[in-house]
Amino acid sequence: MSREKSVHRRTVLRAAAGTGVLLTLSPGLLLTGCDGGVKAVESETLGLDSDEYDVELNLHAMPDSVPILPGAPSEVWRYRAELLKGPQNTVTENPDSYLGPTIRLRHGQTVKIHIHNELPEDTTVHWHGLHVPSDVDGQPRLPIRPGETMTVGFEVLDRAGLFWYHSHAHGKQGGRVGFQSYAGLAGLLIVEDEEEAGLKLPSGDNELLLVLQDRTFAGNNELVYMGGGMGSMMDRMHGFIGDRVLANGAPPTTRKVATGPYRIRVLNGSNARIYKLAWSDGRPVPVIGADGGLLQEPEDRPYAVLAPAQRLDIWVDLSESQPGDTLELISDRFQAGMMGGMGMMGSNALPLGSRFPLARLEVSKSVEASEPLPAQLGVQRQKILVNSNTRIRRFELSPVMMRGFAINGRRFDGTNVADDEKVRLGDTEIWEFHNNTPMPHPMHIHGLQFNVVGRRGGSSDSLQQGLVDSGWHDTVLVMPRETVQVAMKFERFDGLYIYHCHNMEHEDAGMMRYFQVRG
Ligand code: C2O
Ligand code: CU
Repeated sequence: MSREKSVHRRTVLRAAAGTGVLLTLSPGLLLTGCDGGVKAVESETLGLDSDEYDVELNLHAMPDSVPILPGAPSEVWRYRAELLKGPQNTVTENPDSYLGPTIRLRHGQTVKIHIHNELPEDTTVHWHGLHVPSDVDGQPRLPIRPGETMTVGFEVLDRAGLFWYHSHAHGKQGGRVGFQSYAGLAGLLIVEDEEEAGLKLPSGDNELLLVLQDRTFAGNNELVYMGGGMGSMMDRMHGFIGDRVLANGAPPTTRKVATGPYRIRVLNGSNARIYKLAWSDGRPVPVIGADGGLLQEPEDRPYAVLAPAQRLDIWVDLSESQPGDTLELISDRFQAGMMGGMGMMGSNALPLGSRFPLARLEVSKSVEASEPLPAQLGVQRQKILVNSNTRIRRFELSPVMMRGFAINGRRFDGTNVADDEKVRLGDTEIWEFHNNTPMPHPMHIHGLQFNVVGRRGGSSDSLQQGLVDSGWHDTVLVMPRETVQVAMKFERFDGLYIYHCHNMEHEDAGMMRYFQVRG
């Protein structure tokens, strides 16, 4: 009892075993770099200005202690919410997990969120994938100090899809995205709309949400983030790879299911790990959606690749199954480039590219056959039109000796924007990422959804057939030596946005830049 208490007070995230370095979350240490002191500041609402909001909620970022593994609870940082106004199902808490509440919004709603920072350091909340005004986007330039409240308001402009929210703090000492997200500051955000509802896809018990994250624990279940010395250099190069995988904040479990179709919506909320989703019996993986919602039509893949921050909507039909049958969703073995592949993380119990289970489905009852998967899915959103006159903006991803990676030779430099990082509101552009490194980089652009135009030059490897490029995306995996083109249109909002690698350790080490949309 007293032991648990002291763990609770200390709030420890430990460095890797063997290095002897402890990263404590105690306020004394963490307040370095912050103003310190607790202020109750209610800033004006940023973003949308409206008297009437359809949805209003409080979102707290706070320390907590939750059971993750058997035994002692683990110290975490997490989000909690209170619904002040709006439909009852807007907020679904995940009480036994460090994951933030699942927030369900509808297209067209206006939303007001009071973000309370109850952490001992600066934080922000980024609505990953949503088309929102620059000031609402949770960027590092607008930190919420400890004890402060920031209120943001926006209209839900995106069509239905699975989005997420997470910390995006980056201070003078470097990025805190990896640390804060790892400590638990992340949650799902679902947008619903009429079009999707009309398709009658599996819902309720037949819709499974799956957040994949990897973590390392020390002896008393303390979360361990980054090693010291050599270990930390390796973590910074590759990104942090945990030695076990958690699904929805807990070790993977068996879900009792019925015969019939299931919709499985998966977020890769890991700092750096890539997953190769497959079924244990080798059946194809029908993909029905990606980051920005449903695809035009379902696509059968032998496996589907999910890079950090990406989402996939997949489907499984268990109508042919019998009670007692089991099926596992796994991450299959792969090799991702020279250094990103297996073998480089010698001491890790679960190296990148190893095979492990994510969820086990156990058929426990038979039900009447139900609706088959519709042949057509997303119909409303037309792809972005590009032609030979469309401007191509090139970005080279390259290594920086001992300091991580750069984009066009530049690293994060606050809100400084170079001339070739200024775009015009209303323009359509192709951004071309050329990966001149031996590691895969999941490139993310804030504030919009893009289409993948094409890829060239990547070596044929064990992930290629699972890269889902159709549909709408906010994060695209650029494989070693590969060149990937994405098309986007800068609509509605001008101002500063960010683009970066979503390997959080790469991002925190400076593989991130602001760009400016000029009105
Ligand atoms: Cu999910 Cu800039 O981040
Ligand atoms: Cu990267």
